[in-house]
Amino acid sequence: MKTWGGRFTGPIDAAFERFNSSFGVDQRLILEDIEGSLAYANALAKAGILSQPELQQIVKGLGEIKKRVEKEPEWLASQKAEDVHSFVEAQLVQIAGDAGFKLHTGRSRNDQVALDTRLYLKRAIIRVQVEIGNLSRELLNLAKAHRDVAIPGYTHLRKAQPVLFAHYLLAYFEMFQRDYDRLNDCFRRTDAMPLGSGALAGNGFPVDREALRIELGFGQLTRNSLDAVSDRDYQVDFIAAAALAMVHLSRLAEDLIVYSSPEFGLIELSDAVTTGSSIMPQKKNPDSLELIRGKAARVIGNLGSILSLLKGLPLAYNKDLQEDKELLFDSLDTLLDCLLVAQAVIRTMTVNRSVASGAVQADFLNATDLADYLVRKGLAFRKAHELVGKIVLHCEKQGVQLRELSLAEYQQFSALFGGDVFDALSLENSLAARSVFGGTAATRVAEALEAAERSLSRG
Ligand code: ARG
Repeated sequence: MKTWGGRFTGPIDAAFERFNSSFGVDQRLILEDIEGSLAYANALAKAGILSQPELQQIVKGLGEIKKRVEKEPEWLASQKAEDVHSFVEAQLVQIAGDAGFKLHTGRSRNDQVALDTRLYLKRAIIRVQVEIGNLSRELLNLAKAHRDVAIPGYTHLRKAQPVLFAHYLLAYFEMFQRDYDRLNDCFRRTDAMPLGSGALAGNGFPVDREALRIELGFGQLTRNSLDAVSDRDYQVDFIAAAALAMVHLSRLAEDLIVYSSPEFGLIELSDAVTTGSSIMPQKKNPDSLELIRGKAARVIGNLGSILSLLKGLPLAYNKDLQEDKELLFDSLDTLLDCLLVAQAVIRTMTVNRSVASGAVQADFLNATDLADYLVRKGLAFRKAHELVGKIVLHCEKQGVQLRELSLAEYQQFSALFGGDVFDALSLENSLAARSVFGGTAATRVAEALEAAERSLSRG
């Protein structure tokens, strides 16, 4: 039975009926829908709309529906309904009879769906934050187990300067920390209780919205009924935060794909997160990471979709808004999946210490240190840069590294060079020199690891 049949005489077109139904997507809100309905039944009873026996019948009926959903998760898949709200109402009427017909007094599916999605999203945000925390933990464990490993840092994907591997990993730790904080903001804006807004103008019965807020565990009330039923900004906030987290995951994935390639060989991915080729027996492909990179595109697309969905809508509710949930759920599911797979990748990967140590010794990663050496001897940096450029060119022609030139050769370039130049060229010096706050010196990285540990244990 339709919840709105009275005004209609003709039957609904079959294609439109399928098209109009959101039950396949919004059935995952059923527990929130029941939770909201229980609170609303209490509010109606307090307002004198439901008698105590009617309230009891409704509470019992909703309780039975909830139990069935929990015991028989496959039940909903076989059911047909316009949406989850009309499904719950129809089930309730079957169990509770006439009392069930009173539950929708003063309420609209418009404030109901806003409530359900907010309740659902608040919990989902916490689940995502837990998984961001778990991924951050894996990054931190890997960093701590490789405190002494240096890798080439890259700009333009060309070797630039050595950095500690832990410093590299902590860069991603920072990104995920920001994602976590962004979700806190998103939670705060999601945490507003819309029930009582009715279809658009507010509830016509004296329901106590403040009591509903407290019963449903919200931090604040929505303040304007028109806004409350048509606001999906909290979903935009979430999808935007999810899209940016996916961008971070995708950048990590891209790095690890490159670093694990035979051409780089800095790390090796475990069999657990790689696949083979159906034709080339030697291949071990980083599909886990490629899929993370690929799935970032979906969530970025979802952000564009939800913004486009909202941009032309007149106030207040329009059925276009039903399209929000697929975008929201897909963003959530994709992000959670990617966070779990990224954890597995980080947990199981190995670092090729010998490749890393060879890679940081080659290709003039200490050229900046040589220029800095000359600066300490009194030469202006721009001149030092020019001179070291010439020395690098000379080495390239000779096929040697900077540390392989003799002091006499150095002195042909400048009388400023002394015997201490070779210390300046060492990897240890190069790292230790970058001891500013935020730099890659071992002392700073040790502090950063401790700070990261503290922030994770704060939760
Ligand atoms: N299924 C609808 C949605 O997700 C619920 C609200 C329907 N309201 C209405 N007036 N048709 O948006």
